Amino acid sequence: MAFLSDTLARVKPSPTIAVTQKAAELKAAGKDVIGLGAGEPDFDTPQNIKDAGKRAIDEGKTKYTTVDGIPELKAAICAKFKRENGLEYTPKQVTVGTGGKQVLYNALMATLNPGDEVIIPAPYWVSYPDMVLLAGGTPVPVAAGIETQFKLTPALLEAAITPKTKWFIFNSPSNPTGAGYTREELKALTDVLMRHPHIWIMSDDMYEHLTFDGFEFVTPAQVEPGLYDRTLTCNGVSKAYAMTGWRIGYAAGPVELIRAMSTIQSQSTSNPCSIAQWAAVEALNGPQDFLAANRLLFQKRRDLVVSMLNQAKGLTCPRPEGAFYVYPDISGCIGKTSAGGTKITDDEAFATALLEETGVAVVFGAAFGLSPNFRVSYATSEAALTEACSRIQAFCAGLS
Ligand SMILES: Cc1ncc(COP(=O)(O)O)c(C=O)c1O
Repeated sequence: MAFLSDTLARVKPSPTIAVTQKAAELKAAGKDVIGLGAGEPDFDTPQNIKDAGKRAIDEGKTKYTTVDGIPELKAAICAKFKRENGLEYTPKQVTVGTGGKQVLYNALMATLNPGDEVIIPAPYWVSYPDMVLLAGGTPVPVAAGIETQFKLTPALLEAAITPKTKWFIFNSPSNPTGAGYTREELKALTDVLMRHPHIWIMSDDMYEHLTFDGFEFVTPAQVEPGLYDRTLTCNGVSKAYAMTGWRIGYAAGPVELIRAMSTIQSQSTSNPCSIAQWAAVEALNGPQDFLAANRLLFQKRRDLVVSMLNQAKGLTCPRPEGAFYVYPDISGCIGKTSAGGTKITDDEAFATALLEETGVAVVFGAAFGLSPNFRVSYATSEAALTEACSRIQAFCAGLS
């Protein structure tokens, strides 16, 4: 009898974590490393939110809670959806989990049967395909390249749909490209979905608050109310409120789906951390003005990185609408040899040589399902970004 399960054989460890580990090893060995791999804001959780967490501890709010979230947090989430997205949900339609990741995982575990297909626009967040595989489904990646600014078109979506399609995963602004869909672009996709009533929509709105130049964030159930009954609108406090370590994510959708997700959670982790839930209540109900300040900070960094990367020989870097990532194309570097003697056969070779020869850590595009590219996270200081981009420019100039 095999010790490890067949399920485990279907998935791979996160490549983004592997890059972070390699960079940490080089750093420990004394190398001057600049990490552009991390997927989290580089600033601290706001003080009012930290204080709410401390208060929860002092007031003894440290016991089990309802499995899928305390009523106060569910009420705050309903208010958030109404205030920011024009969406009406009741607490029964809301579930809270240990990070956005668990919420998405619960939904897939609760609904996928063998043979069920899940359409995932590529490049995608690394966890989507593996979560689908863990849940026994079949991921169907659909490539949306630089020619459409990494956005799925209605024709591409239509062509990927089969009678077995269960879910369509939508992520805007996107990890890893930062691409954000306008209302018109999203409406064109929801028009396709309206013609296929067997498909459910999983909207991952994790980067909602990180949009630039006045870009209007929109989510499918808002743009097409006809999809409300088969949409799971997912979000969380991790990225917007710099709360990645607190582990609170949430979703709203049809009661039957929410109940099924709660059942999965009740037999795995039970409630998310009680203290973190109280901190999330403060995040959603408290002052929101720092969101605008952070947006401006990230926008400035995006402009710096896009400008410097487009000056690197062989790179093309689109200017995305949101998140804190850019996804330059490296077609112009493929087939060349680095100053250190590495043949750049693909984006993994590029990222490896870049790290070894310049100490800049990025994640190669193959990890996100679209090559040849790499992902830069610009959630770090302007000084570090300027130095890292200068090293990337020098590395590209040295390719021959
Ligand atoms: C697109 C996307 N969705 C979901 C998540 C998960 O967020 P959380 O940390 O709340 O689990 C991430 C985190 O990197 C993400 O990039």
